[in-house]
Amino acid sequence: MTIENGGCCGSGCCTKPDFSDLAPVLEAYGKIPGSLITILQKAQDIYGYLSMDAIDYISEKTGLKPALIYGVATFYTQFRLAPIGKNLIMLCKGTACHVNGADMIEEAISEELDISDGETTEDGIFTLNNMACLGCCSLAPVMMIKNRDGDETYGNLTKDSVKKILREIKNKEQEVAQ
Ligand code: FES
Repeated sequence: MTIENGGCCGSGCCTKPDFSDLAPVLEAYGKIPGSLITILQKAQDIYGYLSMDAIDYISEKTGLKPALIYGVATFYTQFRLAPIGKNLIMLCKGTACHVNGADMIEEAISEELDISDGETTEDGIFTLNNMACLGCCSLAPVMMIKNRDGDETYGNLTKDSVKKILREIKNKEQEVAQ
């Protein structure tokens, strides 16, 4: 059997990660100079973060040194090197949201979940990422929550409403886990 694109044969004989979703990205951009950031963005979109295995795979396909790729991934705050929670909270810290209380919303999230920007809860349910403008400033302050069901935008947030939203999501996750 031939294993293509660094993928797993599925026989259970090894734990080699399956990068078949990333392979088309590397086919399209792998040999185009200056495409590393695009490749890393797409890899993160697919897997949620950049694992060392993903960095090695990108290195293998582009010919770039792993240390260089790792350096780029750690330089830009947009890249994550650890897995994210089941629900990614993207809290807008753009100007309109800032003026309308985004810091207060961040405080409420930290109080409720005991995490700061870039961190994941111990139960793996939430990750918080502060973002630039999410493009719906009329609803400021705004957060978007990304999970297996897609993206949902929550606007006109207050400390109470954000805590209520987070509790509802947590309850739902706990029900699913039972
Ligand atoms: S500044 Fe928050 S959505 Fe634009």
